[in-house]
Amino acid sequence: MFSLEGKVALVTGGSRGLGRADALALARAGADVIITDILLESDQPDSAEKYGPLAQLMKRRGVVYTEQTAEEITKLNRRSAVYKMDVTDREQIREVMAAVKDRFGHIDILVNNAAALDHVASIENQSDELWERDLKINLTGAYNCSKAVWPYMKEQQWGRIINMASVAGTLGGFGQASYSSTKAAVIGLTKSLALEGARYDITVNAIVPGIIGTEAWKSGNPKMNERMIARTAFRKPGEPDDIAHAIVFLATEEANYISGIELNVSGGIELFTF
Ligand SMILES: NC(=O)c1ccc[n+]([C@@H]2O[C@H](COP(=O)([O-])OP(=O)(O)OC[C@H]3O[C@@H](n4cnc5c(N)ncnc54)[C@H](O)[C@@H]3O)[C@@H](O)[C@H]2O)c1
Repeated sequence: MFSLEGKVALVTGGSRGLGRADALALARAGADVIITDILLESDQPDSAEKYGPLAQLMKRRGVVYTEQTAEEITKLNRRSAVYKMDVTDREQIREVMAAVKDRFGHIDILVNNAAALDHVASIENQSDELWERDLKINLTGAYNCSKAVWPYMKEQQWGRIINMASVAGTLGGFGQASYSSTKAAVIGLTKSLALEGARYDITVNAIVPGIIGTEAWKSGNPKMNERMIARTAFRKPGEPDDIAHAIVFLATEEANYISGIELNVSGGIELFTF
């Protein structure tokens, strides 16, 4: 039970954090895993400049593990590859998907994980530019990748699409107008595609993480982070593997009758904690 042997998975935004944990967990469960991101380990340090302060910080700290993760997957006796893929670039997505199909034979699992998380400002101070960026990456990115992989999944009459939403999308988030709007919209996209995919045995589900202690989350405002933790029933952030294990389950054959759900992996942050 719960084996992904013979399946090929593609993870977007897989260079660090949850994407990296998802890739490793999918491989441990038996899948071959393709890691994609805008920023690769082999890129020059100044290549992060155009992607904003968070990307620059992560590159400076060496928190970009694309090739390393692929190597770890290979050591598990699974196939792996790394591709530069910007989820806002439709042409590049099409090329990468075609290359993966060519090299690996099929694409069975898509994890739409890539997102921008660092735009925090009250409505009057929201940057119009970052609002547009967040829509483009977090929402349109998931749409772009789902649309590109759809014909392959439809043809093989099997597929798993797993979208990363957030409790910011289901509960709202102070100062997170752009981020929470995109994450709420990802849930709408998930449900519509679940309806359309069922006839082809393509399931589409959303994971709703609470607070997960990734490098990106840790680089946020420490006081705000403390307040977030205090809201969880567990009084601690979740681990990246808590998300990854839920994704593995939704990707399995055994989850074949689950589609269109929002699966909270949130340590009870939405409970009446006091
Ligand atoms: N960490 C949390 O507490 C938390 C909570 C709720 C939801 N999430 C969601 O989980 C996912 C991962 O979060 P994380 O904490 O690992 O964040 P992260 O910033 O470490 O990871 C995001 C990844 O997306 C990549 N990316 C950004 N723009 C891209 C683009 N245009 N094309 C391709 N890749 C791009 C980044 O390079 C990075 O590798 C995101 O969707 C996030 O919204 C995280």
